[in-house]
Amino acid sequence: MRLCSFAVLSSLILQITASSWSPRDAVETTQLSKRALLQDIVTWDANSLFIHGKRVVIYGGEFHPFRLPVPSLWLDIFQKMRSMGYNAASVYWDWALLEGQQGDYSASGVFDVGLFLDLAKQAGMYIIARPGPYINAEVSGGGFPGWLQRNPAHLRTNETGFLEATYNYINNIGKTISDAQITNGGAVILFQPENEYLNGFATGFSPNVYYVQDVEDEWRNTGIVMPYTDNYGHDHFLPGSGIGAIDLYGSDSYPQGFSCNDPYNWLSSDVQTNEYQMFEIESNSTPPMIPEFQGGSFDPWGGAGFGNCSVLTNEDFEKVFYKNNFASALKIVSYYMTFGGTNWGNLGYPLGYTSYDYGAAITENRELTRAKYSEAKLIANFWQASPAYLTASPEKAQSAAIYTTQANLTVTPVIDSNSETGFYVIRHDGPEGTTNYKLNLPTSKGIIQIPQIQGSLTLVAKDSKIHLADYAIGSYNVLYSSAEIFTQQNYSKYSVAVFYGGLTETHELAFSGAPNATIVSGSGVTVSEIDGATILNWQTSSSRKVVQIGSDLYVYLIDRNSAYNYWVTYLPGTDSDPFGTFSTSQPVVINGGYLIRNTTLSGSSLYVTGDLNTTTTIEVIGAPSSLSCLYFNGVLVNTITGTAPTLSGQVIYNVPYINLPSLASLNWKSIDSLPELSSSYDDSLWTAAVLTYTNNTYRPNLTTPNSLYASDYGYNTGTLLFRGHFTATGSENGTVELGLAGGEAFSSSVWLNSTFIGSYNGVADASSANVSYGLPSLTTGDSYVVNVIIDQTGFEESQTQGADIMKAPRGILSYNVSGYAPSAVSWKLTGNLHGEAYEDRARGPLNEGGMFAERQGYHLPSPPSSNWTSSSPLTGTSGPGVAFYSSSLDLALPAGYDVPLYFGFPGASNTSNYRCQLFVNGWQFGKYGKSFGPYFQMLPFDSRR
Ligand code: GAL
Repeated sequence: MRLCSFAVLSSLILQITASSWSPRDAVETTQLSKRALLQDIVTWDANSLFIHGKRVVIYGGEFHPFRLPVPSLWLDIFQKMRSMGYNAASVYWDWALLEGQQGDYSASGVFDVGLFLDLAKQAGMYIIARPGPYINAEVSGGGFPGWLQRNPAHLRTNETGFLEATYNYINNIGKTISDAQITNGGAVILFQPENEYLNGFATGFSPNVYYVQDVEDEWRNTGIVMPYTDNYGHDHFLPGSGIGAIDLYGSDSYPQGFSCNDPYNWLSSDVQTNEYQMFEIESNSTPPMIPEFQGGSFDPWGGAGFGNCSVLTNEDFEKVFYKNNFASALKIVSYYMTFGGTNWGNLGYPLGYTSYDYGAAITENRELTRAKYSEAKLIANFWQASPAYLTASPEKAQSAAIYTTQANLTVTPVIDSNSETGFYVIRHDGPEGTTNYKLNLPTSKGIIQIPQIQGSLTLVAKDSKIHLADYAIGSYNVLYSSAEIFTQQNYSKYSVAVFYGGLTETHELAFSGAPNATIVSGSGVTVSEIDGATILNWQTSSSRKVVQIGSDLYVYLIDRNSAYNYWVTYLPGTDSDPFGTFSTSQPVVINGGYLIRNTTLSGSSLYVTGDLNTTTTIEVIGAPSSLSCLYFNGVLVNTITGTAPTLSGQVIYNVPYINLPSLASLNWKSIDSLPELSSSYDDSLWTAAVLTYTNNTYRPNLTTPNSLYASDYGYNTGTLLFRGHFTATGSENGTVELGLAGGEAFSSSVWLNSTFIGSYNGVADASSANVSYGLPSLTTGDSYVVNVIIDQTGFEESQTQGADIMKAPRGILSYNVSGYAPSAVSWKLTGNLHGEAYEDRARGPLNEGGMFAERQGYHLPSPPSSNWTSSSPLTGTSGPGVAFYSSSLDLALPAGYDVPLYFGFPGASNTSNYRCQLFVNGWQFGKYGKSFGPYFQMLPFDSRR
């Protein structure tokens, strides 16, 4: 009987600490940058970053904590990114959510910055911190809080009023981020102040180096010592010592742009083949870096939908464009977005809807169902498993000529001059078709035309491969390989390498020194010896082939789809390991299925955690010690050992019983959410629009006697309501004309007292509108109220310096009640309860708007609905108005399953115009405008609890 026993974790840690570094971790000498560093843990030379003196590739993805308001799920995303082979997350924080009222910084609960950073470390992810203060990011105001609309200084300049406004945010969040720097044992390794600062200038404005320097100084004053990066992409603010200088130069790249309408319409030849050369012109002393490379796309109201955006940037896009990044020798790269998330609670900018799925590798509901997740995993792992890449640089891309005879193929050689390893990135440039070719590959044995034994290589349109020459695996030299490597790992007793290719493709792999090759399993591999090299030639199929090379290298030859199920997971290490708390040496390699999250090792027992979506065989093919026991999610697996050093066993997946209640059969209660129409409605507590001036620099000249800009009165989010009082002096049948501003796709309805006079339904690309409605006849001497409701969609971003577009006001820009002087109408307004002194500290400053039900808090759990009318939203209202519906339901989801849920709004078949918002337990998780979409709304919540 085999005994599988527990050992305490502390002994495990000791064991890992004692293990020796493999060659890739060898300490190298650091060439310092032009200016003195403030710390010595994160350094660099022209090739790569060093962490604790060891060269590393920083390969990451963007993930915004504020777009997943469930802290217990942050670790889930970090782990899914880490298991993808990503070792860093690039992170924005949204100032507007953290300082909703000037001077009142609030970062607890779902806004907890420190917790997020701790979880990153727990998952072994480094952090590239990008807290702004300006972030863009398709968030309301580009991250600027609404109260900045009242600030007389120009945004993103060094005018005192603006700089002073940033201090409180920067001081607070800067302190938390600085506590989590790697110098303090945390995850933060790089820091980006500001964002794409050079994106445009209004007349009279130019690059303001003093502003950039001021922001950099402010962050430094909070204790930030990490190197400064930029994503400006222009020849200002370069590494060096000038005003506004940064440390690491970078430039963003979105080669497909942002239209998802025609997602298959792109060519491989759209890649930029001179990325590296352009980088060298700007900054040849720092590692080539792209801080944001396209990982998906945003999508506007009425856009093609994120399904299309995921196609635009799918696995084919990754094969071509991510491998072109490899060909550009990028050593620091982050894919924007890798998890997009949700624009819940009005946090998005006016051009976008509530989902920010982005078509990213990890879906909005955190699923790994897109092949682009798996393909990105293959590419990232190769990047991480290839130490020679760390010092490699590209030579000029060559079409056909010297490497192949096929004119529609382009080859970029990326050569490591230290090891002589050659990476040959080959791309199919044609719009369609399959090209068979032979490759003339320069190797240590001279130029060899491959394949030598039989067949030819194959590349289809929209594909790219990395062929190898003189690539080290353990003590063996891969003379060449046409098959791509997923990973290769070396343990004290053996090495393992996983090669993959497309189904039916012929591949050839050669080892120098003619080591023995023994077929361990599978068939169809031809083994030959030519000029002192052992050559394997095979046709890729879904049936795996395992070949033992020499005494201790196990080579797995598999097809791409099978490779999607392979995982590399890192074992716990120490703080001085390059990857946070995880060791990079000797990770565990598993053939496993849906998701392998984590592994820990205790003696000969391996503890694996992961997620399954079907009954799955978990097969460990590489581990640092001989294994006899395997646990999956804490349960001992019945295992068998293989001929190669493998341990495997089946884990049963029990299909959960999920029985969601039907929304139609719930006990719905409803209340009128526009009591303002009633003649007895008392607005004495509303804010009187009394300001005769505005400080708004975007629209400084009022065209109304008093300002009707909502932000001048502290209302910065959600629905706005205005009431214009006047007394009739005649009985004319006139009109009301209104100039309304609410952001793209905003809408509005207007009543005279309780009489509906008109609606504006909005268009996706207009942020303001002039409307004119006929008035019913009036009775002289009577008091009237023009009730205006505006469903606004947030503040514009503010990319162009000096233009201050973020300050484009929301509210009423002009009005005319025919026959009346403007001053005859006196206005009151309201928005969310208590405006910037917002009530709901848990859900933050933007979640609630100004509708009656929101001001009363009826959207929060357990509203006092017992006396409300019984009425369902599926029936709806019969006329113009605002109705609020509430019900409660029990999801009764089974324990131990992660069950993503969404709401669908099949509104397209309904002919009347309406808008609706969805609140779940008080959180606004969806805003739907008929004909604008989206039709589905994800619910970010953790069902595992
Ligand atoms: C970048 C910007 C990001 C985001 C992205 C598009 O240029 O830095 O904040 O807006 O474009 O999603």
